Amino acid sequence: MTPHASLPGLTVVAHPLVRHKVALLRDTATPKKLFAELAEELAMLLAYEATSDLPLERGTVETPLESAPAERLPQEAVTLVPILRAGLGMVPGVLRLVPTARVGHIGLFRDHDSLEPVEYYCKIPTGAERGQVFLLDPMLATGGSAVNAATALKQRGITRLKFLCLVAAPEGVRRFHDAHPEVPILTAALDRELNAHGYILPGLGDAGDRLFGTK
Ligand code: PRP
Ligand code: URA
Repeated sequence: MTPHASLPGLTVVAHPLVRHKVALLRDTATPKKLFAELAEELAMLLAYEATSDLPLERGTVETPLESAPAERLPQEAVTLVPILRAGLGMVPGVLRLVPTARVGHIGLFRDHDSLEPVEYYCKIPTGAERGQVFLLDPMLATGGSAVNAATALKQRGITRLKFLCLVAAPEGVRRFHDAHPEVPILTAALDRELNAHGYILPGLGDAGDRLFGTK
C-alpha cells in the first residue's frame, strides 16, 4: 500500500483482486446482485488496508494448554459512517472484518443542478470520537458530499478519520484534501476525470441506482 505519487494522502489499493473486482463492478452488464456483492468485497479489501494501524490492547488468552499473550481490538475501537444511500453498500464488507464496529449514518444527496450536497440526516454513535472512524462512500466525484460529511464528523469531535471509496476522481481527491488535508483517502480506483454532469469517467455510473435498482 503506497501513497499516490502526485496526490499525497491518497492510497490506491492496487491488489490484483481489487483490480479484478473493479473491472466487474464497472461493467454495465453486471447485475444488481453481483454489483452489491462486489461493493461489499471491495469494501472488505479496503478495510483490511485501512485497519493496518489500529491500536491493540495487550492481554492474555487461555489456550487448551496454557496461558498465552494476546492482543485484541479495544471495544468500540471502530465506527463506520456510510454516506446514504450508496455508502450502505460498503458496510457489510467492513463489518465482516470488524464485527464489533458500530455504525452511524449521514444522509446527503447531490442537488442535481448545483451538484452540491444537501444534508438530511446525521446520527453518530456516542463515543465515536474516542476511536477510529471510517467514512464510507463508493464514489468521490466533485468531493462535495465527502467534504461535507467529514466536516459534520469533525464538528462532533471526531479526529481519527479515514475516507474509504471505490472510485475516485482527481477533482474530488483535490477538493477533499484542500478541506481535510490530514484525512487519508483509500480508494480501489483513481479515474480520469468528471463529465459536465459531475459523473466520474470512466466510472461505473450511479452507484446508488446500481446498488438499489432505482433506475
Ligand atoms: C452519490 C455518491 C456520493 C456522491 C458523490 O450520491 O454516492 O455520495 O454522489 O458525488 P460528489 O463527490 O460530487 O458529492 P448521490 O448524491 O447520487 O445520492 P445517493 O447515494 O442517494 O444515490
Ligand atoms: N455519484 C455516482 O454515483 N457516480 C458518479 O459517477 C458520480 C457521483
